[in-house]
Amino acid sequence: MNILFMGPPGAGKGTQAEAIVNEFGIPHISTGDAFRLAIKQGTPVGLKAKEYIDQGLLVPDDVTVGIVRERLQQSDCENGFLLDGFPRTLSQAEALEELLSELNRKLTHVINLKVDRNKLLARLTGRRICKSCGSTYHVIFNPPKQEGVCDKCGGELYQRSDDNEESVGTRLDEYINKTAPLLQFYEEKGLLREIDGEQEIDTVTKEIVSLLRG
Ligand code: AP5
Ligand code: ZN
Repeated sequence: MNILFMGPPGAGKGTQAEAIVNEFGIPHISTGDAFRLAIKQGTPVGLKAKEYIDQGLLVPDDVTVGIVRERLQQSDCENGFLLDGFPRTLSQAEALEELLSELNRKLTHVINLKVDRNKLLARLTGRRICKSCGSTYHVIFNPPKQEGVCDKCGGELYQRSDDNEESVGTRLDEYINKTAPLLQFYEEKGLLREIDGEQEIDTVTKEIVSLLRG
């Protein structure tokens, strides 16, 4: 299964990806996570990406495509993968087509998580992430049992530097202008499936699993 998750910032791509990769035993490829790791490690890619990410702007395509190219070539992707947050521009989508065709692979499912824009700000500003294991929580919609502490590993929870109102506004605009047009690109290929991402987290997971098992 070569899956792609689409949807605006805060739609629940990362949350659902955690569940789906566990269910199907495939790697989760998130360009956002890859950039945040590079920033933490202080690599040249990280330094470049940070300028854009903190403002809520997309990182330039050449940097982003390079990261995905390297990742997809690794052997654990041979039996499937879940792409989350890539592609986000038409040029990235075309680069992905080329890359997959070089590897003799194809996307099998493109799943769009639909959530109304007016719900996204609250989801993003209330998000908290575990410093140790990367699990995602929400102070209201999915709170940990103990405030500020990860249920799974006891790690400390933090807030992403781009989860403030100003950056979120820019991220949503970038999504509308540059990423939303990709929905038509995948619709025309007959790959696009939509899921109502406004339902409870577990309900969304069940719908995605049944669609993938379909
Ligand atoms: P990235 O990390 O990909 O962020 P994003 O697309 O903005 O998506 P998010 O991680 O914010 O949202 P999500 O859909 O994963 O939601 P989540 O599950 O966490 O990218 C960050 C930045 O990196 C970009 O702005 C850009 O600068 C750069 N970048 C990355 N990829 C790039 C690319 N390809 N090209 C160029 N630049 C790139 O959920 C959000 C919150 O809601 C959580 O708190 C969660 O608990 C809660 N929640 C989830 N589901 C539900 C539900 N059903 N009901 C209630 N609450 C829910
Ligand atoms: Zn944790």
